[in-house]
Amino acid sequence: MCGIVGYIGDKMAVPVLINGLKKLEYRGYDSSGVAIFNNSDLDVVKCKGRLSALEEKVIPKSLNGMVGIGHTRWATHGEPNDINSHPHISKSGNIAVVHNGIIENYMKLKEFLQEKGFKFISETDTEVVAHLVEYHYRGDLVKAVKDTIEELEGSYALGVICKFHPDEFVAARKDSPLIVGLGKGENFIASDIPAILEHTRDVYILEDKEIVHLKKDEVKIFNILGAEVKKDVFHVSWDVASAEKSGYEHFMMKEMCEEPKVIRDTINPRIKDGKIVLDDIKITPGDLENIDKIFIVACGTAYHAGVVGKYIIEKFAKIPVETDLASEFRYRNPLITDRNLVIIISQSGETIDTLFALRESKKRGARVLSIVNVVGSSIARESDDVLYTWAGPEIAVASTKAYNTQLTALYLVALDLACKQGSIDEETCTRIIDEMRELPSALEKVLADKADIQKFASEHYNAKSIFFIGRGLDYALSMEGSLKLKEISYIHSEAYAGGELKHGTIALIEKGTLVICPMTQDYLLEKMISNIKEVKARGAVVMAITQEKNKEVEKAADIVIKIPDVDSVLAPVTAITPMQLFAYYMAIEKGCDVDKPRNLAKSVTVE
Ligand code: G6P
Repeated sequence: MCGIVGYIGDKMAVPVLINGLKKLEYRGYDSSGVAIFNNSDLDVVKCKGRLSALEEKVIPKSLNGMVGIGHTRWATHGEPNDINSHPHISKSGNIAVVHNGIIENYMKLKEFLQEKGFKFISETDTEVVAHLVEYHYRGDLVKAVKDTIEELEGSYALGVICKFHPDEFVAARKDSPLIVGLGKGENFIASDIPAILEHTRDVYILEDKEIVHLKKDEVKIFNILGAEVKKDVFHVSWDVASAEKSGYEHFMMKEMCEEPKVIRDTINPRIKDGKIVLDDIKITPGDLENIDKIFIVACGTAYHAGVVGKYIIEKFAKIPVETDLASEFRYRNPLITDRNLVIIISQSGETIDTLFALRESKKRGARVLSIVNVVGSSIARESDDVLYTWAGPEIAVASTKAYNTQLTALYLVALDLACKQGSIDEETCTRIIDEMRELPSALEKVLADKADIQKFASEHYNAKSIFFIGRGLDYALSMEGSLKLKEISYIHSEAYAGGELKHGTIALIEKGTLVICPMTQDYLLEKMISNIKEVKARGAVVMAITQEKNKEVEKAADIVIKIPDVDSVLAPVTAITPMQLFAYYMAIEKGCDVDKPRNLAKSVTVE
């Protein structure tokens, strides 16, 4: 979702901003723009479309300034067009603003400003911010921004520059991510770390309602009361290469190929002397006595990981688990008490619905444990306990390696809770831990065998509608497999529990309909074979995904993708990868933009 980059230093600002924005393209956008101090003027260039369109518009202008702000917009208020693109300028043209988030009270503020003679030219909520800063401006830009954000309701990350302050700019945030990059003789703001990583690895992570005042050799941060805040510098440990394609054609393929490594990174530091040791989770056996229910709350792919989590936590820890979509959970007045543990799952750690679900849970007294990928993100900071998935930066919009690590983290949590509960015997626990350590090499085999999937995709990419069916953990996997396909190939797809299809949806199965069946659960194999027979009797073409040992599946399905023989309970980690590869190859065959699918955003920071 929208990306912000700001720069002040001795370099030409335009290339720094545009290169930074390119690193944020993964977030999703439909227009872009920059505002630059050019000699003594404030020049704004912006347009609909990709950053290449902006570059074409900017180059002839020879903008030589060394201070500026840039933006990629993912439309919320008003269609993607040149006028609605950011930056937005104030009435006099002296102040330019970029914004990520939604100003919820913008209508009220707009009416107020219109009464004061401010004219609006865009349909956006952001334009009120530009005018409001001008309304409050009395020569002190920091104060004007502070007075402005005191009146804003909703979420924002803001970058603000003013014609009368050519050697400085101001930024602020609430409920939308913003970091400050600290260079030597230069400083930056950005929505996310990759935007500034080629310049510096030292950053400040801003908290809600903090205002930052940037000069080229000074950064000062203030809270909403105007008091200066001293912060620790966060040193980014991963390098530029982690956020680059490194020879792969797409980030998505690179990230799938990283799955064995990141699973290893997620498991290894948490197993000591054959036992799970989750140093970051402070829940004691005594705490668990007071927990009678667990909620898992998340969005999108992370939610699908949560559905797997429900099965495995109930299986091992014997505590009832409810899995909820964050956007529903936060508005349904959930029955949360201090006897509940809420597990929040999020790759980015910034998804707004998930963040608000976390806050709602804490407000109601629950303890919050989060499974997060991005270190220092809002969800990580606000949780009682955090278990990081060491997936590294995930750039492709469609989540792949992050999902596998979320599953891995959920196994660790389930076993940890089970040991603390005394609900698992030592022998079973040791066996599962040993098998978990085999997952990376099993995944290496899955990734080495992708030719059959690629061939199958090349024969079926014209499909109009594809069904995924599975039972138990395979039903949870089907949801994720189906989502992956929809996201990047735009083929209609639905996921169904194997036993549920016949209660309506089987009416859609006809000659040639493609049905994908993950079949990794030993105790449900016979049932799934019956379900395959039902769809095949109606003309379906079936691709099954199962462990090598399950020879009987070959007789039932048209094509079988074999995965190594891992225990049924752990199979989701390896069985999802063929489905991710299937979605990838289908999208490639259709000529889709795999890494940046239409209408989607990586980090959804608006409701
Ligand atoms: C967006 C992304 C999905 C992701 C979901 C939740 O919709 O496109 O890939 O699963 O947000 O994101 P999170 O960062 O909270 O895991």
